Amino acid sequence: MNMLTLSDVSKRFGRHSVIDHLSLNVPEGTIYGFIGKNGAGKTTTMKMILGLCAPDSGCIRVNGQPVAYGQNKTNQYIGYLPDVPEFYGYMKPAEYLNLCGEITGMDRNLRKRRIDELLPLVGLEHDTKKIQGFSRGMKQRLGIAQALLGEPMLLICDEPTSALDPIGRKEILDILRTVRGKTTVIFSTHILSDVERICDEIGVLHNGRLAVQKTMDELRQIHSGSGFEIEFYNTGDILKFSGLYPGGRMDSQTHLSFAGRSEKDMAAAMGLLLQNQIYAQRIEMCEPTLESLFMEVVGQ
Ligand SMILES: Nc1ncnc2c1ncn2[C@@H]1O[C@H](COP(=O)(O)OP(=O)(O)O)[C@@H](O)[C@H]1O
Ligand SMILES: [Mg+2]
Repeated sequence: MNMLTLSDVSKRFGRHSVIDHLSLNVPEGTIYGFIGKNGAGKTTTMKMILGLCAPDSGCIRVNGQPVAYGQNKTNQYIGYLPDVPEFYGYMKPAEYLNLCGEITGMDRNLRKRRIDELLPLVGLEHDTKKIQGFSRGMKQRLGIAQALLGEPMLLICDEPTSALDPIGRKEILDILRTVRGKTTVIFSTHILSDVERICDEIGVLHNGRLAVQKTMDELRQIHSGSGFEIEFYNTGDILKFSGLYPGGRMDSQTHLSFAGRSEKDMAAAMGLLLQNQIYAQRIEMCEPTLESLFMEVVGQ
């Protein structure tokens, strides 16, 4: 079943068409990477899913129920982390989560249980200082805890990693990974390596439409046939290796590439290198398909 469905959704601001007959499906239990360059309309789409922004036409369903602008009935299924989450800086994390729970009508025992579960999950159980002293990464993690408080079926995160350093990004991705299976996750980003690390499925938003929708398995299949390359220490080694494993293209004095080969082929090549004691500086599958795919789609 699809946790989220957009059918033929359009949205314009004045004369500017931002979303143009967009259709997309997010199956239950997946981590969905919603990719698009700045200004592609990711935030606008998320706001329409939350009923915070009215589509001009089309239909959005969350957990099978239609979303109505200005009404929050379907939001009972959703946890939302906005692109720039705002907090009360004078509060401590547990106090803040408790307030959020109180506002949404959770009883005291449930609030306590969820806060006791969530603070360790986001690595903030020992941070008893006020939120105003938090780093960006800590605020982002607290934002995820807040979004998960009501045990949502669908977690929507708007660029949760974009403003963070590599460690902060990894922490966020690790948290999203822990809810995999229990919660359907849709997160927007323009950082393709984050998508490759945790997503089951991706959609690329371009010119208001989904230019690509693929599962990571489909992408990996393309990837596995995309070939591999070997960086040698010298041309002599290239010549020696080419005698054993022909079909490569010499891109430079030390660089040999094999287009259209699989990971299995690469493993065989590695075996030959080892057996014949030819040393390589680097051997790897060719450029991530997601990046080349994205560049192809957005035409750069
Ligand atoms: N409230 C608004 N009024 C007018 N234009 C808007 C509004 N919100 C967004 N836009 C425009 O819509 C486009 C998509 O914005 P946005 O959804 O924020 O993109 P993204 O999140 O992918 O970076 C941008 O060109 C932006 O300027
Ligand atoms: Mg945005």
